Amino acid sequence: MSILQEAVKQIRSHAPSRPKCGIILGSGLGGVVDHLDARTTLAFSQIPGFAASTAGGHRGQLVLGTLAGVWVVAMAGRFHRYENWSTEQITFPVRVMRELGAGTLIVSNAAGGVNPRLAVGDMVLISDHIDWMFGPAQQRFDRWKFDRSSPSDVATPIRDNAWFPQRSRMLYDPELAEIALAAGRKGGFAITEGTYLATLGPNYETRAEYRMMRRMGVDIVGMSTVPEVITAAACGMRVLALSMVSNVARPDSGQATNHEEVLAAGTATAPRMLAIVHATLNHISD
Ligand code: HPA
Repeated sequence: MSILQEAVKQIRSHAPSRPKCGIILGSGLGGVVDHLDARTTLAFSQIPGFAASTAGGHRGQLVLGTLAGVWVVAMAGRFHRYENWSTEQITFPVRVMRELGAGTLIVSNAAGGVNPRLAVGDMVLISDHIDWMFGPAQQRFDRWKFDRSSPSDVATPIRDNAWFPQRSRMLYDPELAEIALAAGRKGGFAITEGTYLATLGPNYETRAEYRMMRRMGVDIVGMSTVPEVITAAACGMRVLALSMVSNVARPDSGQATNHEEVLAAGTATAPRMLAIVHATLNHISD
């Protein structure tokens, strides 16, 4: 049995439901899982193939339950490349969600606002990204190792194992994007579309880097999400990706970014995240 099958078997033995949607909750946003009904909670350490959550503000739990009457599988916390996990390890949960039955992925993060029009607490709908994690080559390398150690994993529904995976096609679902924007209008909170730059981290940017990113047309910067999005799209999932602006880069003020402010903003913005998740689930259950 492959690691993927082992993980699915273990999860199903605790929660036999078939989730329609996977949700990944980034820094400070994990509280959204407390709103799930009929919850089953598994620690990441209970699931074969899952890495351990080490970043602050990440609970390290997989929670299955219903929200808006829809079965979901949610990760409170995620894995990052800066924790030294491979791309294969950080994207493994997405493959597990897909295998459990999820056709949609809602992925969220706390990100730095590079666009000066953004304010702390704003939501940004990711409409495109720039990948500075240099993931694809790593992913291919990891897959080679992964497949050799466990040949049956070759059979998993990943379709991007060509040398030059297509990135110009739509990774982010335009219909779900409209739903999220409408949820913001209805809820009376700011949500705009933006381009996300994924860095390897773990350092926050220097002032010169923030200035460069602004000139490149980046709206928000963070250290996650892109590998999960690429994997989800490769598995044929619809993707909705959201950033909560946890800090705004002020390269000319000398003010530094710190992890505490990032986490505090996440907690304050969780209701907005919940409103968007609700609207999305209502839509996909129709
Ligand atoms: N830079 C990179 N990653 C981040 C930031 C930032 O300013 N804020 C939250 N995650």
